[in-house]
Amino acid sequence: MVRFENVTFEYIRRDEEGNVDSITTALDELSLHIKKGEFIAVLGSNGSGKSTFARHINALLKPTEGKVVVAGYDTTDDDNILEIRQRAGMVFQNPDNQIVAETVEEDVAFGPENMGIPTDEMQKRVDEALKKVGLYKKKLESPNRLSGGQKQRVAIAGILAMKPDCIIFDEPTAMLDPGGRRMIVETAHELNKKDGITIILITHNMEETVGADRIIVMEKGRIALEGTPRQVFSKGEETLKKYGMEVPVITALAQKIGLDGCILTREEFVDAYVKALE
Ligand SMILES: Nc1ncnc2c1ncn2[C@@H]1O[C@H](COP(=O)(O)OP(=O)(O)O)[C@@H](O)[C@H]1O
Ligand SMILES: [Mg+2]
Repeated sequence: MVRFENVTFEYIRRDEEGNVDSITTALDELSLHIKKGEFIAVLGSNGSGKSTFARHINALLKPTEGKVVVAGYDTTDDDNILEIRQRAGMVFQNPDNQIVAETVEEDVAFGPENMGIPTDEMQKRVDEALKKVGLYKKKLESPNRLSGGQKQRVAIAGILAMKPDCIIFDEPTAMLDPGGRRMIVETAHELNKKDGITIILITHNMEETVGADRIIVMEKGRIALEGTPRQVFSKGEETLKKYGMEVPVITALAQKIGLDGCILTREEFVDAYVKALE
């Protein structure tokens, strides 16, 4: 679905005369393959290159060196951009910046409208997408009146209406309350399981990564650590700390009371606890 081949990206700052002022290497020979249907969580401290990575997937940025291929389309070819943007949608951190229309349904229709989808087909897609994110009843309301979490779900519906293969979430929960967060992560998992949509979820919240197929930890524009949640969270406190990570709360609690293995979910906790009692 997504392939990065030796991708380097440099942000070049220039002074008023246009001379190069500074160069930041945000991606450093990054190579990576994400399979169709995978659920990937991306972690890493601030400035490690996560957003730069995300923006390469839907061709908002293009590699300085190397190559990014999305659903078979090379992002450096301008002729591919519409196709890529339709297949790989992106949800950003700030829900307020993503609203473009007066009503929820118009907002969701914005993307497909620009793709030239016929009106009746579009209405069908908009309704379907709103039902998927649980906001069908709000379709005639103003998006400005919704909660942050609901706005994020409107943004997701706007992407769904374009029938994407892949959705990239760049810290979508950072500005939400716990309830809103949970909803967004649950929606992402549901879209992954039921519709086979490839998910790339960038987050700072360890709890949000435990259900992923694979965790990628970035540092200085490279992959520092990679594996299943269990593999990654078994690395030990020191290693995790180095990359600005900690184990999820439930894992820490299990360790504290001496339960065996690397426990990541409530179910695992209960099972291990019952076993320990026996
Ligand atoms: N628009 C920009 N201009 C210059 N440097 C940038 C820009 N955006 C990000 N950077 C730099 O690129 C590096 C990676 O940033 P970013 O991809 O935003 O990391 P993250 O999302 O992990 O916090 C950082 O050193 C950051 O300061
Ligand atoms: Mg970022």
